[in-house]
Amino acid sequence: MWYSVNFIKKIERNDSLILVILGNLGHFRHSFIMIIDKLKIITSNFDIPPDRIDLSIGQPGTSLLPLAALAQAAQHCLSQDNSYILAYGAEKGNWYFHNALAGFLSEQYKLSVNPDHFFTTTGISQGLDFICRLFTRPGDTIFIEKPTYSLALGIFTDHRLNVVGLPMDEDGLIIETLEEELAHQTPVFIYTIPTFHNPTGHTLSAARREKLVQLSREYNFLIVADEVYQLLAYTGMPPAPMAKYTQAATVLSLGSFSKILAPGLRLGWIQTHPDLMKRLTTTGLINSGGGLNPFTSAIVQSAIELGLQEKQLSHLKKVYLQRKNALNSALRENLPDSVSFVDSDGGFFTWLQLPQSVDAEKLLPEAHKHDVSFAPGSFFSPRRDLKNYLRLSFAYYEESELKEGAERLASVINRNSS
Ligand SMILES: Cc1ncc(COP(=O)(O)O)c(C=O)c1O
Repeated sequence: MWYSVNFIKKIERNDSLILVILGNLGHFRHSFIMIIDKLKIITSNFDIPPDRIDLSIGQPGTSLLPLAALAQAAQHCLSQDNSYILAYGAEKGNWYFHNALAGFLSEQYKLSVNPDHFFTTTGISQGLDFICRLFTRPGDTIFIEKPTYSLALGIFTDHRLNVVGLPMDEDGLIIETLEEELAHQTPVFIYTIPTFHNPTGHTLSAARREKLVQLSREYNFLIVADEVYQLLAYTGMPPAPMAKYTQAATVLSLGSFSKILAPGLRLGWIQTHPDLMKRLTTTGLINSGGGLNPFTSAIVQSAIELGLQEKQLSHLKKVYLQRKNALNSALRENLPDSVSFVDSDGGFFTWLQLPQSVDAEKLLPEAHKHDVSFAPGSFFSPRRDLKNYLRLSFAYYEESELKEGAERLASVINRNSS
């Protein structure tokens, strides 16, 4: 039996690629439809039922991943006389990449950024793990904001750290409470997400940033600043990043290309003082393997130099603003008055506060029956409290899906919050 193909029609719908194929199976005319689920191919770390709108997904939607721009950057990079990019990399990472990154960030941050203060990572997750490995021992205490990025908690658990959560308000970490806690104990470091925080969307005020740095010097602890959303500001300019304070040898500012270019690149950076840099580069891992990710960083260097990164970032900012507005206005129209949230100026998230009596985790089975999902507040706390909160992301879905998702969610909440 043989098969010959006469005709293929490609239809792209949401996250699926549908191929309508017409051909001859032996002597018979034959047609069939093949559905390739791009979502499953691209994001193998989760599996979503086809009709579910999963508002817990905190990553760029697949239609926002810049394949063509990266093809252009790779073509540009690989046509240069630069075979060094295939050699073991320098300990801190490729200087030419750091130079391009410093130029890009200087413009974005409106600050002068020194290329010698970068250490290349394979993303913030790896950077965090590396910092825990180098600066802590099991049983050491660290401070975090409560709530915090749920998956960072897993990294701290891997290193068997004693994690102390400190409260936040709309201006970020409450510094007075930090000072009270410092009177009892000093952490090795404080992990903070200062701008467009995950999950709350809140931003640490400039005055609190200054005070935090001052306290880190006074009490001698490190500040591990996860600045992954710093560049994703949609309506204004957030306070200067914690990277501004790296002249203090207590600050490590972590950045990433995951949310501004593509998470699959696994590329990020730590920006820090030369004293801390020495600690990062004199490790067995770096001595044996050389700097991290030299090849990908060279391609991203081309993406920056060709202006593709900047173009992608301004495209993302427009799309995310529209998506945020679509989600938040649908929430405002459909949620009961007993549910509140703050509209964030950037980042990926909307954090809902439900009535005290509602446990978001217990709503999940009913939400799934109605083809919607979210991340319950308990995921973002080391003690799994914050039960009457939940986090929604507007980064992944198109506006119409976000609206539909908000309506489905609101009907579940309405039924359970009277
Ligand atoms: C606050 C925060 N930090 C880090 C990450 C992961 O960053 P990376 O992909 O660079 O490891 C995320 C992703 O959701 C995040 O929200």
